[in-house]
Amino acid sequence: MRNKITVVGGGNVGASAAVNLALKELGDVVLVDVVEGVPQGKGLDMAQMGPIEGYDVHVTGANDYEPTANSDVVIVTAGLARKPGMSRDDLLLANFEVVKNVTENVVKHSPNAILVLVTNPLDAMCTVAHAISKFPKQRVVGMAGVLDAARFRTFIAMELKVSVENVTAVVLGGHGDTMVPVTRLSNVSGIPLEDLIPAARLAEIVDRTRNGGAEIVKYLKTGSAYYAPSAAAVEMTESILKDKKKILPCAALLEGEYGIHGLFVGVPVKLGRGGVEQIFELKLNDAEKAALAKSAGAVQELVDVLKPKLQTAGA
Ligand code: 2OP
Repeated sequence: MRNKITVVGGGNVGASAAVNLALKELGDVVLVDVVEGVPQGKGLDMAQMGPIEGYDVHVTGANDYEPTANSDVVIVTAGLARKPGMSRDDLLLANFEVVKNVTENVVKHSPNAILVLVTNPLDAMCTVAHAISKFPKQRVVGMAGVLDAARFRTFIAMELKVSVENVTAVVLGGHGDTMVPVTRLSNVSGIPLEDLIPAARLAEIVDRTRNGGAEIVKYLKTGSAYYAPSAAAVEMTESILKDKKKILPCAALLEGEYGIHGLFVGVPVKLGRGGVEQIFELKLNDAEKAALAKSAGAVQELVDVLKPKLQTAGA
């Protein structure tokens, strides 16, 4: 039987994800959005791309969740995106309501799905989805590290004029300004990054990575990045549905790993048919540990703001 994937949010991230899912023939895709006509129109357009690209999956759009029933994976992109000058955290309260509503509908129609969160502020939204769904922690995962590491890899490849494929980059922590690109553990075909790029220049690249999303928001003015974020969500979905067991940096619920308790934070995880099948604990030095603790602290502050709302919601 074919896989079924729902993408919630028919904006730029959601629509790009739907196209990528179809191109990779990962399963039938249902695009959901509250705006009447938009998911239906985009879905039909993508279905008509099938004969040209040669994919045999069905792509449809809907304003309700009935057609999404029994999805294997649900990618949640719905919510407000940043405008110039805004941080991801500025979206907290508005997107809480969106993710809460989406999650309630997912639980109702696809109780066995794996949730892949993309909506910002990412790590806090994972907490919302986990608390509302009451899904086991393995079935709630956030897309951020794959994107942040891809940005880091891109900038390193540009700097060294080498293939992006040769660059392995490690990024930990929350998907915000405090994320932790770990230069010591990043390498180019096994050559330590710190041997290839002088420290001062590397610090600039790390800074650009941390602000990688904001750099694009500044260019676009009316929204945030979508090609790389959607590709990252699709790489995670592919690893889940094909049970590839890729080790990818994702937001996962930590229960003591890295000394962090009860918080979704970006760490390397194994993604397979069971969702987050394993969390890997890297041996960090003191500076890296402190940076990760700071990043987790920033996520905790957002979650604390949401706590009363989650309690009211019975989560
Ligand atoms: C970004 O970093 C949308 O959060 C996403 O561009």
